[in-house]
Amino acid sequence: MSDALQKCFSEASINGLTLRNRLIKAATFEGKSPGGIPTEAHTHLHRRIGEGGIGMTTIGYCAAESDGRINENMIYMHDGIKDKLQHTIAEVHKTGAKVSGQLSHCGNFTKSKDFSGHGLFNGKRPMGPSFGINSLGLAYGLPFTGAMTVAQIKERVKVFGNAASWMKNTGFDAIEIHFGHGYGISQFISPKTNKRTDEYGGSLQNRMRFALEVLEEVRKQVGDTFPLLGKISMTDGVKGGISWDDSIEIASLLDKGGLDCVICSAGTSSMNPMIMFRGDSMLEGLIANEKKPIMKLGMRMIGPKLFRDYPFKEHYLLEHAKRIREKVQNQVCYIGGANSNAAIETLMNEGFDFIQLGRPLFFDPDFAKHAAADAGYVNGCTSCNQCATLIEAEGGVKCPLNNHFI
Ligand SMILES: Cc1cc2nc3c(=O)[nH]c(=O)nc-3n(C[C@H](O)[C@H](O)[C@H](O)COP(=O)(O)O)c2cc1C
Repeated sequence: MSDALQKCFSEASINGLTLRNRLIKAATFEGKSPGGIPTEAHTHLHRRIGEGGIGMTTIGYCAAESDGRINENMIYMHDGIKDKLQHTIAEVHKTGAKVSGQLSHCGNFTKSKDFSGHGLFNGKRPMGPSFGINSLGLAYGLPFTGAMTVAQIKERVKVFGNAASWMKNTGFDAIEIHFGHGYGISQFISPKTNKRTDEYGGSLQNRMRFALEVLEEVRKQVGDTFPLLGKISMTDGVKGGISWDDSIEIASLLDKGGLDCVICSAGTSSMNPMIMFRGDSMLEGLIANEKKPIMKLGMRMIGPKLFRDYPFKEHYLLEHAKRIREKVQNQVCYIGGANSNAAIETLMNEGFDFIQLGRPLFFDPDFAKHAAADAGYVNGCTSCNQCATLIEAEGGVKCPLNNHFI
């Protein structure tokens, strides 16, 4: 085994948390929590991936509050599901893997009309940095987005911190804050969606204020010795949005703000999702799984502009992630198209500390075991992206090429 593979398949730590290797399951919302309650299928997925030898799994999209969900089938951090999450965590721990949770907020991009939690919407409209259109909510009676007051921003900072503290007490080994993909925090970072003229808008420093305040509050509530990762978008993939160059400063500010490990993703679910995934377009699959006819029609009309053509290539975000690796002091995690041991060797040699895997684990949950045993390992994920079209289908995500996660 080469030195690079040896490095990947040896123990490594994030802020004192030791993982058995450097492979982490990426945060993926798998649609296995109908009504916001994680099911046994949810536990099975994470346990099965743990059994496959991964260092740490990530429970995707853990909303900081009820109104932070994109749809009502996502979980939010509250006592009603504590026993379910503790069950999943305990089952994963039995496999030797650790468990992280992706702490998220949708901001103004949502179709959830569940206003039952303590609310930011107040039954009216989803809130973000500025007034605008909520494309996801058009057919769901939520067409507009409102601008948060400074008091509401400060309250969200606390909401993030309280949710983080709750996650730590629930038994998560680490937390990954979602700073990217066009969701709540990145709506503030992006000049495309943040049109504020107060201290939360304008310069990059100002647009980063909410992100840095959230990081500071989360750190305060979980303590200095708890591992905190953060996922950023290195570009929004649209004119006037976050640029590749901006992302170096974004990563650097989070690094200085006390983030232990930055995860270098790209794209936005709202404006340019394919830059995050690459490979076959998800549009047809999403239309097939959409329940509202009006939404189907809208997706047919607007979809081709949104779901642009980005052919898959191995480790497709490497060129830009390298620039962040060079700039930041703390750890850096690579994500995006790491599908073989050849890719792992390249990424280890480039100095990345960890690698996150999304789709390849749906294809082969034993990725880590198989790759550790075979230097020539190539994962068979075809980047057909059908898994991603199933997040709202009955039963949730599975790979069309196998039966692991039915
Ligand atoms: C089914 C599915 C659901 C996803 N859900 C999330 C999510 O909830 N949060 C997130 O940050 N990224 C999400 N992603 C993006 C992945 O974390 C990852 O960035 C992307 O799949 C590229 O990595 P890969 O090439 O290893 O699959 C999702 C991806 C898939 C396939």
